[in-house]
Amino acid sequence: MKTSLRNVIVLAALAASIAGSATAGDKPECKMFGKTADGKEVMLFTLKNANGMTMEIMSYGCIVTKLTAPDRDGKFADVVLGYNTLEEYIKATPYFGAIVGRYGNRIAHGKFTLDGKEYTLFCNNSPGDIPCALHGGKVGFDKVVWDAEPVSKPGVQGVKMHYVSKDGEEGYPGNLDVTITHSLTDKNEYRLDYELKSDKATPANVTHHGYFNLKGEGNGDILGHELLIKADKTTPVDKGLIPTGALKPVKGTPFDFTTAHTIGERVNADDEQMKFGGGYDHNWVLNSQDGSLASAVEVFEPTTGRAMEVLTTEPGVQFYCGNFLDGSNVGKTGKPYKFRNGLCLETQHYPDSPNHPEFPSTIIQPGKTYKSTTIYRFSTRK
Ligand code: GLA
Repeated sequence: MKTSLRNVIVLAALAASIAGSATAGDKPECKMFGKTADGKEVMLFTLKNANGMTMEIMSYGCIVTKLTAPDRDGKFADVVLGYNTLEEYIKATPYFGAIVGRYGNRIAHGKFTLDGKEYTLFCNNSPGDIPCALHGGKVGFDKVVWDAEPVSKPGVQGVKMHYVSKDGEEGYPGNLDVTITHSLTDKNEYRLDYELKSDKATPANVTHHGYFNLKGEGNGDILGHELLIKADKTTPVDKGLIPTGALKPVKGTPFDFTTAHTIGERVNADDEQMKFGGGYDHNWVLNSQDGSLASAVEVFEPTTGRAMEVLTTEPGVQFYCGNFLDGSNVGKTGKPYKFRNGLCLETQHYPDSPNHPEFPSTIIQPGKTYKSTTIYRFSTRK
């Protein structure tokens, strides 16, 4: 009995070393990535899993700079868009791989009223020439340095990122305390666990803004990716990309992804919503609305066999197909990221919720911790 147990342990250790497992509670590697203009050090963490996946994430903006996944033949590619250096991220990025907040997506005219008081935010975006606050404003969560602490347990390598957004920052009330644990698991998942607390009531809608291309970053457009979204409705927008307040059934429209369709199939359809977004850039109302962790989206890239499933506790997902990419951002392998070369699946509450009492509330109440989880799970198919 004793001998066989020892054999099992020896075999398990051998198997782990063959697979290159670095996850038996090991801490991620950490190195200096650079400094911001005001001299703050930015750290880069390298997370690995037992199946050979690698993820790099930095403390500036919690930006995921690299995420590798195997294809159906076991060949790895980096499936997220981004740059090689901190300087490029600081200079110009359409939120590549970043955490956005306090409020992911748009708040109309940069204004909302809470408990009888009107708040004014910085308007940093103006689709259809209508100003709005987008993704946190002038200096959002994607442009600040977070405290970072490696956290790992068997089967999981993680980094806990922490940032306190001060009362009044970007015009929002309350000191908002945000902790996000980013993990790479041996189940081939990038997992985000969010915890938000505030000392005053304040709106918040924090999300991950990674651009995925399952063919590998820099390998062309995402129009051949097949998509399935577990949502029967969207929140249609006006020409300023602000929700009208309606919940519109997807049935019979190019927004129906309740069965799988390629992104390219209907993206140029003669449809007013599609014209406003310049393609898909909308919030889907997920069928799962009870706050439990549920499967929301499935993506499949037929030429490589790579698949990604998105699970979330959030009630919505913004599917954006890279309509604003125009080749001006040159990526980490020297290739320009052109029109629709990446896709985002931003799990979230609905855009402009502070101005839509009919939508699920985004108000963080003092004394209560808001918790949320999203998982990007990678696999392959024939
Ligand atoms: C989100 C928005 C888009 C755009 C991108 C960033 O997905 O919905 O309209 O702002 O972020 O370019």
